[in-house]
Amino acid sequence: MDMRLPLKFTETVPLQDAFQRSLQELRVSVIDRCNFRCTYCMPADSLQGRGVFLPLEKLLTDHEIEDLVRAFVSLGVRKLRLTGGEPLLRPGLPALVEQLAGISGLEDIALTTNGVMLPRLADDLAAAGLNRITVSLDTLDPKVLAEMSGGKAKLDEILGGISAAEAAGFRQLKINTVVQKGVNDHTILDLLDHFRGTPHRVRLIEFMDVGNSNHWSESDVVPNSEWIEEIGNKWPILRVNSGNPAETARRYEYVDGQGEIGFISSITQPFCGGCTRARVTADGIFYTCLFSNKGTNLMPLIRHSEDTGELSRKVSEIWVRRNDRYSEERGQPGHDREKVEMYKLGG
Ligand code: GTP
Ligand code: 5AD
Ligand code: SF4
Ligand code: SF4
Repeated sequence: MDMRLPLKFTETVPLQDAFQRSLQELRVSVIDRCNFRCTYCMPADSLQGRGVFLPLEKLLTDHEIEDLVRAFVSLGVRKLRLTGGEPLLRPGLPALVEQLAGISGLEDIALTTNGVMLPRLADDLAAAGLNRITVSLDTLDPKVLAEMSGGKAKLDEILGGISAAEAAGFRQLKINTVVQKGVNDHTILDLLDHFRGTPHRVRLIEFMDVGNSNHWSESDVVPNSEWIEEIGNKWPILRVNSGNPAETARRYEYVDGQGEIGFISSITQPFCGGCTRARVTADGIFYTCLFSNKGTNLMPLIRHSEDTGELSRKVSEIWVRRNDRYSEERGQPGHDREKVEMYKLGG
């Protein structure tokens, strides 16, 4: 017997790509500028002076972002993450969050930030309906922090941002820590110690070959398996099974009850099989992978189309053909390519 659904019912089946991965999460970069120059993301030497960033009038407006998110929600997206550059540099971000929080069907709005503007904005973001915050922090050593952020990050300002987020009611933050061999690896245990006993979760991220300008080399990567062993020797840890195949981090808890940590191991243990994430840049270009070299410009459909269904039809056409699995193919012949920069795509 043919068990396939009659055609008229297929619209209610979740949209799936070529590897049966559904479209569940949207990450929108709201601005490509940043007040840091992290060496692994936007090294100052790779920016050719002025003009590399989008002029503000090229950014999607708040209304356009709302339309975009609505289209993705109509296709099954339930989680939204706002990224940058540094998203808090976008003028009026709390008002945008409030608009997005009103979209029915959207269950979770998160933000990835370097934290320094949180003292000014955390209360407004909470009031606007932001659900979760991730703060990037690579080390507690001021010298190493300065080196990794191109001289821009100050520890007190980031810790002040974390305190402001806590005070605004964001109880459990995620702390993103990119590890580079010989740069901040000697400071990782101190960082973990600082957050032990708090509700916040540090995630150690293997340095990745995103973009074309961060001088990535595999020899600069510390495999997370080494951390799992080293941390476990100091503070025994146990794997937490989240049961969520779409999660980027492998989660562990400290056996002594002092909290959780995560390991994002895109280099040594890729997780493309569960990748349900779509990304859109601040000027409306849709990418189906963090390591894409080609995206689809949705701006004409967002800005000029009269037909509101046209945008979601375009997105679903692209998603069903999606066959990205860059991290699983890394290193294979013909794999080297120009990639979109991380600060445009938001990580
Ligand atoms: P939630 O589960 O919503 O909290 O999000 P997350 O933890 O997956 O998101 P977050 O942006 O904090 O991801 C952490 C880091 O993992 C990013 O900054 C990237 O460095 C990396 N990452 C996120 N998504 C992907 C992905 O799809 N592919 C790869 N290779 N790396 C990713
Ligand atoms: N490798 C791994 N993670 C990176 N991020 C930026 N560049 C890289 C890279 N080359 C992450 C940072 C930040 C987020 C925006 O992206 O940790 O939290
Ligand atoms: Fe800015 Fe984040 Fe990139 Fe650092 S990693 S340069 S804080 S966007
Ligand atoms: Fe998804 Fe691409 Fe990352 Fe693989 S490399 S998990 S396909 S974004």
